[in-house]
Amino acid sequence: MSEKRPARQPHSGHHNLDPHLPRYAARTAGMTASEIRALFAVASRPEVVSLAGGMPNLAALPLESLSSQMAELIAKDGLTALQYGSAHGVPALREQICEVMALEEISAHPDDVVVTVGSQMGLDMVTRLFCDPGDVVIAEGPSYVGALGSFAAYQAEVVHVAMDDQGLVPEGLREALAQCRTHGKRVKFLYTIPNFHNPAGVTLAVERRAEILEICREHDVLVVEDNPYGLLGFDGQTYPALRSMDPDNVVYLGSFSKTFASGLRVGWVLAPHAVREKLVLAAESATLCPPTLNQLVVSRYLATHDWKGQIKTFGENYRERRDAILSALEQHMPPGCSWTHPDGGFYVWVTVPEGVDTKAMLPRAVTARVAYASGTGFYADGFGSRQMRLSYCYPTPERIREGVRRLAAVLESEMDLMRTFGSVNPRAVSGPENPSPDTA
Ligand SMILES: Cc1ncc(COP(=O)(O)O)c(C=O)c1O
Repeated sequence: MSEKRPARQPHSGHHNLDPHLPRYAARTAGMTASEIRALFAVASRPEVVSLAGGMPNLAALPLESLSSQMAELIAKDGLTALQYGSAHGVPALREQICEVMALEEISAHPDDVVVTVGSQMGLDMVTRLFCDPGDVVIAEGPSYVGALGSFAAYQAEVVHVAMDDQGLVPEGLREALAQCRTHGKRVKFLYTIPNFHNPAGVTLAVERRAEILEICREHDVLVVEDNPYGLLGFDGQTYPALRSMDPDNVVYLGSFSKTFASGLRVGWVLAPHAVREKLVLAAESATLCPPTLNQLVVSRYLATHDWKGQIKTFGENYRERRDAILSALEQHMPPGCSWTHPDGGFYVWVTVPEGVDTKAMLPRAVTARVAYASGTGFYADGFGSRQMRLSYCYPTPERIREGVRRLAAVLESEMDLMRTFGSVNPRAVSGPENPSPDTA
């Protein structure tokens, strides 16, 4: 039995060397590692200030009482907590989820809630239910990278609609739908993140909400409302959910990832009744059931902790960080840059002067010990090279200020180069004949 294992082949990122290539389903063609994922390894080095990832800051969680609650849960209800459950989710939790949603004016029946493994699973299931290859999903431009991943995995085509500082532009939505109709494309749903948008940091104006719902109704298009940040308004403000305004045409995705603990992976979908039945079937085939233990942990937490107070504490921490990033941007960024002013959530969306390519600049930023997420990852169509997402949720305010200072210095030198060469886009100035500053 002392037979030696064959040496592991060195990993190659090159797809053509993958011997399984001819076997993959066609849908895998759209499955590529997100730029953000590729970045995690470098960005998580301690000397790098990472403004790249969107990890919630959990430091304020009451770990001691959570751990005794969990121990008690296993001791008292272990045989239920460690057993399979229904694909629909634990009934008591579904009732509590309705109370959570009531904070955003949603009135729902627990039967219409399906518990999922994070709202990411909800996104995946909704796309699976509605999208055949080639169907169109309308999404804000930019949009959440994980949603774009799901749409690509089901071979849906994404048509982006622009936002301004009031969120999705209704006129843009009208135009996109009309264009799709003209080109004979089948639009399945509008995917929208109305509150404290990831990555744009803006919120859909309340006055626009009814109009957007009306446009979707007119065009017979479903609305998928993704709302993981809605309770993280810095002034305690909440907005009426789209779902509260049109229950029959909105599928709502919720999550405990940002308001409690992302590692528990508990989210939910609230869907019109008929869709809910299909969702349960889809969930069953994906996971049999969401983890019972984690659902009971969330349920107990909601029943026994001041969860609203906890969300307020989280919000105060994020607000302090938001203030740090906005004042640092104001202080350090070179002229010609602009950015959004979030009043909740985790993200600021920055636009840099024309000619700067944020994706090409990223290795230089990481060398200068700061990381961000370049804008192109948030578009399905290659747009976004002048944009970047800065997440202020995780680092301390001091680190955020230092990160922005470093980033501004990188941008300054990028713009200096631009003034010298006309562009710092590697396609324009690098290559063997024109070595870039890194390789010269
Ligand atoms: C807009 C948006 N939707 C969904 C998710 C996924 O969240 P969950 O942890 O619930 O799967 C995220 C996570 O960052 C997000 O930003």
